[in-house]
Parts: sequence; structure tokens; C-alpha cells
Amino acid sequence: MHKQVQHELEILLEVATEAVMTAGVVLQDLWGKLETIEEKDRSGDLVTEADKTAEAAILKILRRRVPQHQILAEESGLLGIDESNYLWVVDPLDGTTNYAHGYPISAVSVGLLVEGIPQVGAIYDPFRKELFRAAKGLGATLNYRPIQVSKTTELSNSLLVTGFAYDRRDTQDTNYPEFCYLTHITQGVRRTGSAALDLANVACGRFDGYWEKGLSPWDISAGVIILEEAGGKISAYDGSTLILKSGKLLATNGHIHHVLSQALNEALPWLRNFYQAKSL
Ligand code: IPD
Ligand code: CA
Ligand code: CA
Repeated sequence: MHKQVQHELEILLEVATEAVMTAGVVLQDLWGKLETIEEKDRSGDLVTEADKTAEAAILKILRRRVPQHQILAEESGLLGIDESNYLWVVDPLDGTTNYAHGYPISAVSVGLLVEGIPQVGAIYDPFRKELFRAAKGLGATLNYRPIQVSKTTELSNSLLVTGFAYDRRDTQDTNYPEFCYLTHITQGVRRTGSAALDLANVACGRFDGYWEKGLSPWDISAGVIILEEAGGKISAYDGSTLILKSGKLLATNGHIHHVLSQALNEALPWLRNFYQAKSL
């Protein structure tokens, strides 16, 4: 890699790091002290003063350090100069439902897309004090130590993770059949409530694979580059190139990618047969 490109990526990674660490302090300070928990337009999609205060802290840092770049932030929308090829994608609190209920599984996620492609990402879990970072070509780290995806090659030996979109009551694509089938044929499927941490935890080998639909770019922009740099694979469910805006992704250690993609396809017929065979 050209030295100048590497130097620029390192600086941008420091910007992302400062942003997630600063927001992490906000999340720690407001923990257990929430006064307002509101529901956004989609049912079950919450926002609190922790989301807003953490986002304001991140925006202040980005505006100071990279004023020429665009920003897409979950609570504020698209901000900045629209000719820039650099787009920071900010989730100030990923896992708001957990946070609002006092369940300590949440993170701050800040990613940078250059011409639409994830290049830099930082995710900070203030409860476990875990900082995941990566930049294109520079590898991925957890608390500054290199990380890699797991070596699991069989679905039957895998621990997976998934999530359920806020629109699950209004769609047939609920993820319920997939959850049942994969629970049946693997060592387990977890549902943590933080997409950013789900991706980070595949990246460091705790989970072997992750799939989810209905995600937003701020849920996954940082996690995508962290997982790729840790040696993992990301795609659409059918294995084709991920389109960030589609919000539907399959992320694995690479070894189980194809079999998990196939299994997602088999889930609905499997569930129908399962209940027919049991005459339910
Ligand atoms: C949510 C979390 C959750 C996922 C949802 C996301 P939020 O983000 O990442 O795991 O299932 O689709 O919206 O609302 O807590 O920032
Ligand atoms: Ca989120
Ligand atoms: Ca959020």
C-alpha cells in the first residue's frame, strides 16, 4: 500500500476512535439515568437522550477534525458538503432497546465510506471496554491486538447470531423460520440486539456467522470493514455482493458462508415439513 494512503487511513482511524470513545463516555455517564425514552415512527424503535447526546458529541468531533466530509448520522440524517466522496456513518448507540431496559449490551459505531465502500471502522462497547477497529489493508484489532475470524468449518459446530427487524409485524420476511431452522442444526443462535457488536463478535471469532435483514447503513458500516479485515466474508443472503442500503446481510468466518447461505434458503420449507411431520 502507498505510504501516503496508509498514513491517511491511520489518521482517519484515529478520528473514528476518538469519536466512539467520546460517545462511550456519554453512554456510561447516562447509564441508568434516562429520563426520556421515545418511540420513533416504527413501532418498537426507541430513541433516548443517550442516543442524542452521544450523537452530538460525535458530530462535534467530526466537524472539527474532518469538516470537509459528509456525515450520515442515525438521529440527524445527512449532513455536510454533498460533493465529498467521504461519508462518515454514525450510530451513536447501537442497542438502544437493551440500553433503555438496563441490559448492558450496546455499542457506539462509526464507519467511513469512501465512494460508498467501507474503509475505516470503529466500534466501542463501553460496558466491556472493548474497542474494535479496522482500516482497509491495515487489519482489524480488539483493544489494539490483532483479531481473526474463527476456523469453524461445519454449521453443526457453529455458534451464530441474528436479529429481528423493527418491521417484523408488517412483513412476511420475519426471520422466524431462519431462526428456528438454524437453531435446530447448529450449536445455537443468539439474538443480542446490537448489530454492530454482532459483526464485531464474528470478526474476533466468538460467533461463526451472522445474518439479519432490515438493517440501516449506520448499523453495519463500521462492522463490515472490521469483519473483512479480520478475514471474514460479507455478502447478500444469496452470496452476491452486499449492497449496504439493502440492509440484508450475511457475514461469516468465510468457511461456513456457502452452507449458511444455503440453509437460509432451506429454512421455510424445513419449518413447514417440521410442523406437518409433527401434525401441528
Ligand atoms: C438496532 C440493533 C439491533 C438490530 C436492529 C437495529 P438500534 O439498532 O442493531 O440489533 O436488530 O435492526 O436497528 O436501533 O439499537 O440503533
Ligand atoms: Ca443501530
Ligand atoms: Ca442507534
